[in-house]
Amino acid sequence: MAQKVTTAMITGASTGIGAVYADRLAKRGHDLVLVARNAERLDQLAARLRAETGVSVDVMVADLTNSTDLARVEHRLQEDAAIDLLINNAGSTLSGAFAEQDVDQVDWLIRLNVTAVTRLAHAAARRFVAQNAGSIVNITSVLALVPEFGLGIYGATKSYVLSFSQGLQNQYAGTGIYVQAVLPSATRTEIWDHAGKNIDEVPGVMEVADLVDAALVGFDRKEMITIPSLPAADVWENLEATRQAMGPQFMNGQPAERYRI
Ligand SMILES: NC(=O)c1ccc[n+]([C@@H]2O[C@H](COP(=O)([O-])OP(=O)(O)OC[C@H]3O[C@@H](n4cnc5c(N)ncnc54)[C@H](OP(=O)(O)O)[C@@H]3O)[C@@H](O)[C@H]2O)c1
Repeated sequence: MAQKVTTAMITGASTGIGAVYADRLAKRGHDLVLVARNAERLDQLAARLRAETGVSVDVMVADLTNSTDLARVEHRLQEDAAIDLLINNAGSTLSGAFAEQDVDQVDWLIRLNVTAVTRLAHAAARRFVAQNAGSIVNITSVLALVPEFGLGIYGATKSYVLSFSQGLQNQYAGTGIYVQAVLPSATRTEIWDHAGKNIDEVPGVMEVADLVDAALVGFDRKEMITIPSLPAADVWENLEATRQAMGPQFMNGQPAERYRI
């Protein structure tokens, strides 16, 4: 059964995964706040969704790597009590290997994929904690689990978002705050152009509508981690069990036998 949500803010809503979230959430009856840089695309999507669904759609044109724009979006999350769902989706990638990339571009990617995601989640969480209700959906990637498949720091930024989400899930367990991390695999969107890769040469590409619909199944089930392309859920569960079993072993107070001379 779908969760009752009033207004959803979706970052990176002008195209790709964010635009499909906007479509699906509008069709579920949620009012929307759409965030991205491309005003024309946002306005077109907003007009279509208003006409097709009758929901209220607000557009915020913002570059989330610009601190003034980011502060404006954070302020909206802090002040607008109708927003109880944040789809923290805006993200990008770079082409080339790490040392070939311009370090200012590397910094830009961290500001978008890590800093903006963190600050927006923080702005939302402040108010959600106060009202003991609200949901945050962080879009990470399967590259969080297989960074060797990605070039440069993209996989590392996505590992951050996964770890960050799991930390929040632990902190807010048993409260009215729900945090979902979604790990898409290769999905047919424009991000592949930014990566300098031809999507038609990538094996096993998922269509963006399938990805978002599956992520929403996970959302409705209140899954903490949703990996739409992973056939057997127990692979993830076993990995988590192994990771969690390490926790108590870290508290030894002395180096392991193999490090003793
Ligand atoms: N597609 C995949 O294969 C795949 C796989 C795993 C994870 N993901 C993740 O899924 C999320 C969505 O990606 P996508 O595939 O839908 O990519 P996309 O088609 O390139 O869309 C990215 C969205 O982010 C927005 N955006 C980019 N830079 C921005 C900035 N500086 N400020 C504000 N908005 C910005 C873009 O809008 P504007 O250009 O209008 O600003 C666009 O709406 C990302 O976090 C990505 O890492 C994608």
